[in-house]
Amino acid sequence: GDVRLWGGRFADGPSEALAALSASVHFDWRLAPYDIAGSRAHARALHRAGLLGDDELTRMLAGLDQLEADVADGSFTGTVADEDVHTALERGLLERLGADLGGKLRAGRSRNDQIATLFRMYLRDHARIIGGLIADLQDALVGLAQKYADVAMPGRTHLQHAQPVLFAHHVLAHAQALSRDAERLRQWDKRTAVSPYGSGALAGSSLGLDPEGVAMDLGFERGSAGNSIDGTASRDFVAEFAFITAMIGVNLSRIAEEVILWNTKEFSFVTLHDAFSTGSSIMPQKKNPDIAELARGKSGRLIGNLTGLLATLKALPLAYNRDLQEDKEPVFDSCDQLEVLLPALTGMMATLTVHRERMQELAPAGFSLATDIAEWLVRQGVPFRVAHEVAGECVKECEAHGIELDQLTDEQFAKISEHLTPEVRSVLNVPGSLASRSGRGGTAPSAVAVQLSEVKADLVIQ
Ligand code: ARG
Repeated sequence: GDVRLWGGRFADGPSEALAALSASVHFDWRLAPYDIAGSRAHARALHRAGLLGDDELTRMLAGLDQLEADVADGSFTGTVADEDVHTALERGLLERLGADLGGKLRAGRSRNDQIATLFRMYLRDHARIIGGLIADLQDALVGLAQKYADVAMPGRTHLQHAQPVLFAHHVLAHAQALSRDAERLRQWDKRTAVSPYGSGALAGSSLGLDPEGVAMDLGFERGSAGNSIDGTASRDFVAEFAFITAMIGVNLSRIAEEVILWNTKEFSFVTLHDAFSTGSSIMPQKKNPDIAELARGKSGRLIGNLTGLLATLKALPLAYNRDLQEDKEPVFDSCDQLEVLLPALTGMMATLTVHRERMQELAPAGFSLATDIAEWLVRQGVPFRVAHEVAGECVKECEAHGIELDQLTDEQFAKISEHLTPEVRSVLNVPGSLASRSGRGGTAPSAVAVQLSEVKADLVIQ
């Protein structure tokens, strides 16, 4: 029979072309458990309003339980003819309860307030899942920072050797960015804890229902929508979720790009575990960082999901428009992508072998201790403008003779500047350079230890 929710004023059924265009069951079916939870809460609201009797409520809830079980084991599914998940589940309920009782549930609600509510529920659950996966990755980064706590590496700006830093310092920088992503998810979740159920199509309900009760029933800590037009038409919660997931993707791509570089023959900083790298179908020697490359690639896709969604929302008049059906696939995809990417990236980082000798050896290369000379001079009372000039002369002298800064003789130092006494050698080695940067956030082992405990403390909140 006709399963449409809106057949009354139509003489003809929908054309095939319309049905094919309009159908969303193939992607919104994943909202079925949330739709059923919403139906339960709505049935209880109808009962409180006197629109369902005690016995009717009992039978209604039993029918919804049955439907939920049938959805869970796959014995009931939506079809193209159902148009969307809401229509399919209404058909399922009518089949189980008969039209007299089953047909009562739709009173006082619209697919517009339903979808706005279910979508929030789904994304809130996945924000928690993604938050947990981020914490796992941070755990892996913390593990690396601890395992290689004493290893120095060349810190870079412009990808050029800049100053030596602790490898742990560098890795924890990525962990800090991820802490902010996790915090963004928590703050978003708080903002999204408002239920549009009861907003109806756009104007609210005349049936004396209880949107606050429904909101509490469905776990929306901040109650029901304060404006039914906004409740049904706003999708900034989706756009913000798409931004946060895109930002996560971008942060992951920055980790990934470094691993790809570190894993090259030229860097030789790391080796990937066999279980987290791939081979080539033609070149037998190849061992490729595909996980990192997919992280880099998928970040583009996550950005696309955000920009596509914003373009859909731009200039949409209030209230609901069918354009809004296009809001789900992009962020469902963002969830799906991150939920496969994060565990793989975590495994890759957790099993990374770091070549400490190679990193240590390159840490002071490229005159990366020149700043240490300048800052040592400043501590001796030399103005920084002069100190910078003098340290630059040291580099010039080294380049002329093809030597490193610590190979300059006392005589060469003295010739460059009277301030360059042999004591300058105390900072002309990597451990001395690192130890001198002991202020908050710096690369000294003591300062990095503080960073480690701060990231660990964040992980406890997450
Ligand atoms: N499937 C629609 C969506 O995803 C929800 C239902 C609203 N449809 C409607 N014709 N009012 O946005």
